[in-house]
Amino acid sequence: MGKNIVVGQSGGPTAVINSSVAGVYSQAKKLGIDKVFGMVHGIEGFLEDKICDLDDYLATSTGVEMLKRTPSAFLGSCRFKMPKIEGNEEVYEKIFEVMEKHDIEYLFYCGGNDSMDTVKMLSDYAAAHGKSQRFVGVPKTIDNDLPITDHCPGYGSAAKYIATSLKEIIRDNSSFGAKKPTICIVEIMGRNAGWLTAAAALSKTVDCEGPDAIYLPERVFDMDKFVDKVKELAASKSSVVIAVSEGVKIADGRYVCEIGREVAVDAFGHKQMSGTAVKLAELIAEKTGYKTRAIEFSTLQRAATHIASLTDINEAFQVGADAVKAADEGKTAMMITLDRNGENPYQCGTSAHDIHDIANVERKVPDEWITPDGCGLTDDFERYARPLIMGELTPLYTDGLPAHLVRKES
Ligand code: F6P
Repeated sequence: MGKNIVVGQSGGPTAVINSSVAGVYSQAKKLGIDKVFGMVHGIEGFLEDKICDLDDYLATSTGVEMLKRTPSAFLGSCRFKMPKIEGNEEVYEKIFEVMEKHDIEYLFYCGGNDSMDTVKMLSDYAAAHGKSQRFVGVPKTIDNDLPITDHCPGYGSAAKYIATSLKEIIRDNSSFGAKKPTICIVEIMGRNAGWLTAAAALSKTVDCEGPDAIYLPERVFDMDKFVDKVKELAASKSSVVIAVSEGVKIADGRYVCEIGREVAVDAFGHKQMSGTAVKLAELIAEKTGYKTRAIEFSTLQRAATHIASLTDINEAFQVGADAVKAADEGKTAMMITLDRNGENPYQCGTSAHDIHDIANVERKVPDEWITPDGCGLTDDFERYARPLIMGELTPLYTDGLPAHLVRKES
């Protein structure tokens, strides 16, 4: 086949979203596809005909390997909500116009729930208007909240960073012993799903006791009970480390981080979350007088490619490559899913699933994986998550630091 293709990245970046682009590119070249274009800043940039030719970066012998080791969205990301089709046909026509101009037959979009909505809307428009172009979603999100797929590329690496950092924080926090009891509260991303916060539990290993409590957004957060829990823990140990999701909400539906302040909202209506750990640390200091520390992993947890999981990198590459295969086999309006098919040893394949079952659906941590007190995770969670953080890919170093591949802004 000789037609061209385009790949875009959308939503919050991950440590391995670029591996998926590497997978798309490598598979497309194997199939003899002429041009592999990248959308510059996702569908928002594509609407303005902003694209780059991936040969300019990846055709060299080191290009693909460098891209796999590069954090953030190499192509640039966006949070752009496709308008409803009716009354906004010109937006859709513009996208098809850009595709036709560059002879693009397949469009691949790497993203989470909101980005899969873009794949759904574009494929719905194509179906309704007799357009031949194909659209396939490539899963990506540190939040791990896409349905149908066993897990999402991006999650394993963020989980590895979180568990590693928790181990380091737990060591540090206990260094002064009983002379200086410290309550350390660590805030972890994940919006409305607790998968990433749950990864704090993976820090419990032969040489680490793990965090003392983990609070997920799947359970209503009670400020008074939280203070009581900290007091109870501090009564028997001087170092208390607590992992808390950025998305914990109190009984009236407000996020902890929005109590007493206005928070910004993005194009999808998602509130900008930050400040939960600070708020809780202040509360503990006020109610108990203990020394407290608040740590917000923020961007670090999704940008830490230097400690990415090799399993995650390989799977991210695979879903990109398999998206191209799926489109080449005639599939459209699909997302590639990861299908676990072996536990010991862990094995995982892929398949393509109807995008309509996926877009805009959020998958939460199952109830039975949360301990009855609501502050921990069961062994079933560990069995699920541990394989996803396994393996490392050594960075390529320059000037003593991991080297990255950087796109030139045009
Ligand atoms: O959706 C991925 C994610 O990293 C969430 O975990 C987080 O709440 C959100 O993005 C942060 O978005 P932004 O970087 O736009 O503030």
